[in-house]
Amino acid sequence: MSRSPNKLNVHALKWQDGQLSILDQRKLPEQVQYNHYVTAPEVAEAITDMQVRGAPAIGIAAAYAVALSVRQHYVTDKAAWKSLLAADMALLAASRPTAVNLFWALNKMQTQLDSIAGNPIAALQALAEQIHQQDITANQTMGTIGADILADAQGLLTHCNAGALATGGYGTALGVIRSAYASQTRQVFAGETRPWLQGARLTVWELSEDAIPATLIADSAAAILMQQGKIDWVIVGADRIAANGDVANKIGTYALAVLAKYHGVKLMVVAPTSTIDFAMAAGSQIAIEQRAESEFLPDCYAQAGSLVSAWNPVFDVTPAELIDVIVTERGAIFEPAKSGVAHLSD
Ligand code: MRU
Repeated sequence: MSRSPNKLNVHALKWQDGQLSILDQRKLPEQVQYNHYVTAPEVAEAITDMQVRGAPAIGIAAAYAVALSVRQHYVTDKAAWKSLLAADMALLAASRPTAVNLFWALNKMQTQLDSIAGNPIAALQALAEQIHQQDITANQTMGTIGADILADAQGLLTHCNAGALATGGYGTALGVIRSAYASQTRQVFAGETRPWLQGARLTVWELSEDAIPATLIADSAAAILMQQGKIDWVIVGADRIAANGDVANKIGTYALAVLAKYHGVKLMVVAPTSTIDFAMAAGSQIAIEQRAESEFLPDCYAQAGSLVSAWNPVFDVTPAELIDVIVTERGAIFEPAKSGVAHLSD
């Protein structure tokens, strides 16, 4: 049975009249609240604080933040606007370290800026909007490519949130699941994704907004689910893909990849080429973000002299040899360990 294409109900970012509105993902699913920003430092803080998260969405937010910075400083300080903008861009670059889309978007904005002699406001705003729109288009293309590869597969497990909330819209891994579900019913499982609970708070909410039924599992239930033969594919996004095909993604992705290999389950990574770091030879070079202990350490241990601490790396690197296919908007690479992904560079 063919279903009508899903309506895009979820928007992480909205740009209107020189203002960036960010859906505060810390408050989901209880509250749908947009915060409105007109300066780049505010957006940098929103990225660090995870109001907006997910590699492509972080890049798009940073592009809009550069447009905001130019708008603010070019008008108010003709003499110093370039150095004020450079300071804002440095703040944005320091907001989170692992998602390469952030640096990709900042570079694109900088290159455009360098090519303009006169007033750059309109051109930079237009480029940010284009980066946003192109991400949505790439996601829809990847959705079609990925869904074709899945064919009639029934049991799909995703991790973290790689959906509309993490992108310009539609999603990467969730885009594939959306497209696959549009053609036939699938059994969709979402890992809760400790410690920040992107799966439990965001993915199942986003799917239900799109009328796609989903089953939430504790991360530690993935092994028994695979052992019982209920999963055909694990489908995840990526924060940075090295040239050799190694993939940095949300902590726990590597564990799922190892489990999948053992159980004969396939692993699909879905990411636009803006997530590929063509200059990085191998995943071992990727900077892994460490976040605060307070994200999961009980307060009673966060005292001076406490013998209990927490270790909170929020990404891990899955070696290319554990990945069956990487889906990009420029096509799918099967067995990426054999070829790497460098040939996708334009
Ligand atoms: O810490 P987060 O929530 O920003 O991590 C997000 C992920 O790891 C996603 O899987 C990745 O960015 C791909 S999003 C399309």
